[in-house]
Amino acid sequence: MKLLVTGGAGFIGSYFIKYMLQKYSDYKIVNLDLLTYAGNLETLKDADTNVNYKFVKGNIVDKVFVEDLFEKEQFDVVVNFAAESHVDRSVSDPNVFVKTNIMGTQVLLDVARKYNILRYHQISTDEVYGDLPLDRPDLFFMENTPLNPSSPYSASKAAADLLVIAYQRTYNIPVTLSRCSNNYGPYHFPEKLIPLIITRAITNQAIPVYGDGLNVRDWIYVEDHCSAIDCILHNGKEGEIYNIGSHDERSNLEVVKTILKELNKPETLIAFVKNRPGHDLRYAIDSSKLHKELGWGPKCNFEEGIKKTIKWYVENESWWQSIISGEYMNYYKKQYQINI
Ligand code: NAD
Ligand code: TYD
Repeated sequence: MKLLVTGGAGFIGSYFIKYMLQKYSDYKIVNLDLLTYAGNLETLKDADTNVNYKFVKGNIVDKVFVEDLFEKEQFDVVVNFAAESHVDRSVSDPNVFVKTNIMGTQVLLDVARKYNILRYHQISTDEVYGDLPLDRPDLFFMENTPLNPSSPYSASKAAADLLVIAYQRTYNIPVTLSRCSNNYGPYHFPEKLIPLIITRAITNQAIPVYGDGLNVRDWIYVEDHCSAIDCILHNGKEGEIYNIGSHDERSNLEVVKTILKELNKPETLIAFVKNRPGHDLRYAIDSSKLHKELGWGPKCNFEEGIKKTIKWYVENESWWQSIISGEYMNYYKKQYQINI
């Protein structure tokens, strides 16, 4: 079995590659990644020595390049993680989100169609459903909840989802699609909430919380997301959408306080800053379809996962310190309008 994993130098894709190489010693994996600010090959150091793994630098939007790669490698399966993934960046500059997330998906679908692959799997997000009110804890996103994205990021992911579904219906491409809640874990780029809190708390710097900090996210440990994708690839039904989540909802403020407590840092580090425009209130995903039909369930709850994650950041300061430099610092200053 030969897999093309796109965006495999990013947070979840790199975890997925390591997970699959370890679990299936006879699978070959090609990682196609553009190495944007979010891509980091350091994360895949361990895989480099594996004869079943190969890295190729390239852009999923470049059809000639992607076609050439398919011709050479003759993939069986495509798993598309490649994306611009940060909501705040999509608010400042939506352009690249449309290109990578929508046009890139279209290129991959076109080429997958031409080469008759066995399965095309699209990695999507619960953010395509929009948000839920804070005072209705009984409501959850289901696979048939109407798409109602709020940010340029989630709109571009929703558009890509619709293309995937349309290609299945029109061209009969064997697709599956999964929509996961917020991931956290080691090797997470330190501009997303959890790694941002941990790295800034370790270095005793102010922790920016948008608005009143009461927005709720549903957190899943990254390894559980990877095991769900593995399960869908092997047992999922063609043309189906699967929600992935672990029913671990927390307000942002609760997450910040939990991390500060674990690191023994004062709550005076919390700095309430200007709210994100269009800030989604609550995400909460129902993944009972995946549980009932394919027998998948998460293994790690938030209490355990956040401890493992914090420990990793404490022990691997060189990984994130090398990222918190250059281009990222310029982004940070612009985003929060503070000097650090
Ligand atoms: P990430 O930003 O850490 O990684 C994205 C990777 O894609 C990077 O390595 C980047 O270099 C690569 N990339 C970007 N543009 C590319 C292009 N044009 N061609 C090739 N490679 C390109 O993102 P992540 O958090 O690992 O998310 C991966 C996927 O999972 C995304 O599709 C995202 O929408 C989805 N997702 C993420 C979460 C989450 O909480 N992080 C939750 C649900 C779904
Ligand atoms: P984020 O990690 O950007 O993920 P998403 O917006 O895709 O859910 O943000 C998670 C939550 O944390 C979201 O409600 C926005 C909030 N947030 C802050 O309060 N401060 C920050 O500095 C960041 C990056 C996010």
